[in-house]
Amino acid sequence: EANNIQDRLLRPMRDLRISVTDRCNFRCTYCMPKDIFGDDYAFMPKDMLLSWEEITRLAGLFAKLGVHKIRLTGGEPLMRRGLPELIRMLQGIHGIEDIGCTTNGLLLGQQAQSLYDAGLRRLNVSLDALDPELFGAMNGRGIKPAIILQNIEEAREIGFQVKVNMVVQKGVNDREIVPMAAYFKSKGITLRFIEFMDVGNENGWNLKQVTAKREIFDRLGGSSALEPVTPDHPGEVARRYSYKDGQAEVGFISSVSEAFCSNCSRVRLSSDGKMYACLFASSGFDIRRLLRGCASDEELLAAIISVWEKREDRYSEERTEHMASNRKKIGMSYIGG
Ligand code: GTP
Ligand code: 5AD
Ligand code: SF4
Ligand code: SF4
Repeated sequence: EANNIQDRLLRPMRDLRISVTDRCNFRCTYCMPKDIFGDDYAFMPKDMLLSWEEITRLAGLFAKLGVHKIRLTGGEPLMRRGLPELIRMLQGIHGIEDIGCTTNGLLLGQQAQSLYDAGLRRLNVSLDALDPELFGAMNGRGIKPAIILQNIEEAREIGFQVKVNMVVQKGVNDREIVPMAAYFKSKGITLRFIEFMDVGNENGWNLKQVTAKREIFDRLGGSSALEPVTPDHPGEVARRYSYKDGQAEVGFISSVSEAFCSNCSRVRLSSDGKMYACLFASSGFDIRRLLRGCASDEELLAAIISVWEKREDRYSEERTEHMASNRKKIGMSYIGG
């Protein structure tokens, strides 16, 4: 049985976000800008990455401490060879009820079927605009939205539950809010608007670039068009609404204007095996060192418990513009959101 633990703010540990690679085939301007992540950027060497066996062993230990949900992220998780094999291995862990994957969708055309066959059922696909020029510029690679939309369609035909994530950056893609909402409403796909966050130190964030939930909500017609949906579980990242005149839902991930730290139950594992207590943490705990130093399960569990029991992170609730630009933070492509 799970031995549920709590942090200093009495929050349990429920969700584990695992980054499987720091590489990505996109160069989104707000995440991996080309001038920093160029040809000579030093990505992680392969031996620094946790193996599938190592990830599965750790996930099993996290499950013993209360984790029942796993999300695979990157970078771009589909860039790492053999992801279906990891999914098969994670499926076998007692206590894990749900596995999801967050992807930019480009490689789904080749991989969706094998991921589904391995047991994956939920995909969150990032897509920031329907305008081809704008999307191509935002992803830094000139990739057109049509490919991603096609891959989403195919994934749904295979049987996946798909949600779409749109990061809204004011002055960049906020004019896409209404067209994106209309398109995904017509498809019956949940679209989630994500307030642009100050992740990492290189995305040039400031408050003026944030379109707050309230404004997006109003642009969609406000409470005459949308009604709240009861959360599935406490600690849910998105505030959900359903259209009064349709079958689709929309969500708002408002880490800036309505922080959701008070019941944050998410723990993060980077691809090089560091445990992070918060998306905005400045440092992580090196589990890989213990793992490769032949630590026993008991030793690993004790280390994880001790990190969690000391946890008091609530960055989004405390955020100020000063902190956003002066605090040392880990990069988005490194930790996977
Ligand atoms: P579901 O299980 O489908 O609800 O997934 P999710 O929304 O938790 O995961 P996803 O990877 O799709 O993340 C959507 C957005 O929420 C991304 O921009 C993440 O960076 C952000 N996000 C997820 N967890 C947290 C968190 O704990 N804190 C903050 N500030 N943002 C988060
Ligand atoms: N603010 C908000 N969301 C972000 N993402 C990447 N960078 C940011 C940011 N600065 C999103 C991605 C993906 C998810 C994992 O995080 O677009 O949907
Ligand atoms: Fe890649 Fe996602 Fe970062 Fe874009 S936001 S560069 S798709 S990891
Ligand atoms: Fe959790 Fe940190 Fe995000 Fe707050 S900012 S919800 S504590 S990960």
